[in-house]
Amino acid sequence: QPSPDFYEAVGGDDTFHRLVAAFYRGVAEDQVLRPLYPEEDLGPAEERFRLFLMQYWGGPRTYSDQRGHPRLRMRHAPFRVGVAERDAWLNRMRDAMDEIALPAEYDATIWEYFVRAADFMVNHIEDI
Ligand code: HEM
Repeated sequence: QPSPDFYEAVGGDDTFHRLVAAFYRGVAEDQVLRPLYPEEDLGPAEERFRLFLMQYWGGPRTYSDQRGHPRLRMRHAPFRVGVAERDAWLNRMRDAMDEIALPAEYDATIWEYFVRAADFMVNHIEDI
């Protein structure tokens, strides 16, 4: 479980702001991902994801104060997440990770988590 020390070492709030802003700039342009997002304004979705990641990686617990238990698979159930969606998500995230250019060891730790988490979110098994 990531600790507050990890959170600070990786750059704290600023790092997660930059990562998630870069990711959502990619989502806004992505022809596979953009149609999945129910709201025209991606700002609120960006904030939910940023707060979730900050909490997961050892930062403030604002996400759960506002949203309760993450239950991420359940929260993704309304969206069709097949292999194409997972791959598009990971490609956009890889671009965002490259943009913020963390030290290699932190990059690897966070990237491995994203790959696992994205696999876990796939909910259309006929595509696997
Ligand atoms: C919410 C798509 C993977 C974390 C959402 C939403 C969509 C979506 C359409 C709704 C946007 C909104 O909040 O209004 C996808 C797709 C994925 C994926 C296509 C491909 C695999 C992930 C992964 C994580 C994640 C890997 C975590 C590492 C979240 C969070 C929310 C969210 C925290 C907001 C949940 C809430 O309502 O509090 N996602 N997602 N997603 N996603 Fe994903």
